[in-house]
Amino acid sequence: MTPKPIPGPKGNPLFGSVQEFALNPAEFMLRNAVEYGDIVKFRVLHLDFYLVVRPEYTQELLITHHDRLIKSPRDVAILSKFLGKSILVTDGAYHKRQRKLVQPAMHTNRIQHYANTMVDYTLRMLDNWADGSELQIEKAMSQLTMEIVAKSLFDADISGQGGQIGEAIDTLQQIAGLDFRVQNIIPDWLPLRRNRNRAEAGATLDQLIRQIISERRASGEDKGDLLSMLLLSEDETGARMTDQEARDEAVTLFAAGHETTANALSWTWYLLSQHPEIEARLQAEVDTVLGDRPATFQDLPQLRYTGMIVKESLRLYPPAWVLNAREALEDIRIDGYTIPKGGSIFVAPYAVHRNPAYFADPLRFDPERFSPENEKRIPRYAYFPFGGGPHICIGNSFALMEAQLILATIAQRVSLSLLPNQVVDIDPQVTMGPKNGVRMQVQMRETVSQP
Ligand code: HEM
Repeated sequence: MTPKPIPGPKGNPLFGSVQEFALNPAEFMLRNAVEYGDIVKFRVLHLDFYLVVRPEYTQELLITHHDRLIKSPRDVAILSKFLGKSILVTDGAYHKRQRKLVQPAMHTNRIQHYANTMVDYTLRMLDNWADGSELQIEKAMSQLTMEIVAKSLFDADISGQGGQIGEAIDTLQQIAGLDFRVQNIIPDWLPLRRNRNRAEAGATLDQLIRQIISERRASGEDKGDLLSMLLLSEDETGARMTDQEARDEAVTLFAAGHETTANALSWTWYLLSQHPEIEARLQAEVDTVLGDRPATFQDLPQLRYTGMIVKESLRLYPPAWVLNAREALEDIRIDGYTIPKGGSIFVAPYAVHRNPAYFADPLRFDPERFSPENEKRIPRYAYFPFGGGPHICIGNSFALMEAQLILATIAQRVSLSLLPNQVVDIDPQVTMGPKNGVRMQVQMRETVSQP
């Protein structure tokens, strides 16, 4: 049977859609997903890309055809410069084994111990906020989630080793972002500042983590953090990770875990500042459930509306707005369409979550979409901020718990309003944060007494 032609924009005869794509890849994908429907083909310079949109197709791609896909070697080449050979950048049998070894560290039993860290660190941050003060919310959230991930992963305080590790990882992540923009065409050996910075940050990071790992191995102690779990985890033959493997997974958890959650929280505060009625309901919930005592892991089921707000914010502003590009190892047939061997495939939560084919009035911020009754009606892969298939986010429970606890703890104490004269826009890079940041003003709330 001849395959059905895949529709899509023609673009410029020479350069394809390079201009629109480069200008704002998230909006470009959304626009074409809405215009062409289930699956879209477009060209950027000499490269053909396939954007899979329809939820059933996404499921078929990520689940049924997962072993015919690899993460795009172009992306892997950039990311592995600092992530090494971790689960985020590998596929097949190696990925499967490593993923099994990392999984216990992210198990619910284990991560609930970090709930107190999340709340304590948020309260410590709030102690430094004064009534009427102004702040960049994305900076504050980034600092906070970094402190939390450093403590939960390495039991390290940000004022010490945790801070140095965080700084090195941020530098490496920023340089990877630059590499993505120029598609990694700048060789590592050129004597450029970015290459020097990468080498320096890489050396610092490796030295710090090696030291922590060797101290742990020597003491054999389970410190209760994620790193201990990574080091103690065994595969079916009883073998443990090597130091290098543990380093790669730990750096990946740190990098994947902090900026994404910080972006989710920044967008949530922005959305709440635009919807005072929703913020008022949030405050009413935290006042009723918590009064003035700190939130705990056990409160999460009662903080239901808080959770709905987080999910709706992840719909409108998915920090992982597009999954890492995949490459087809052989022809992939989905519903009469063929994605050819070697084709690069995008699956973009942003292009589905904001698509009127899947969400009515998609740009409206409405946490009710995630009430228990409504949430059940959302088709699988119409909403997937954490991806799907073998690479589905391993930190999703950690992230949701963290966002819910931080949101509740901040909403309990303060209200945040958007300072005037700002245009808040998306910046779709490796993750999607607000383009020029978001400046907000703090108003202290009257603390409510315990219910
Ligand atoms: C709101 C916050 C978060 C979002 C939106 C998010 C989103 C995602 C997505 C979409 C993927 C799949 C990427 C792909 O298939 O190409 C992913 C993978 C991953 N995430 Fe998250 N993530 C978040 C928080 C976290 C946290 C807190 C951690 C760790 C503590 C984490 C660790 C990872 C790791 C290690 C992977 C790679 C898994 C694999 O490839 O097997 N993430 N994340």
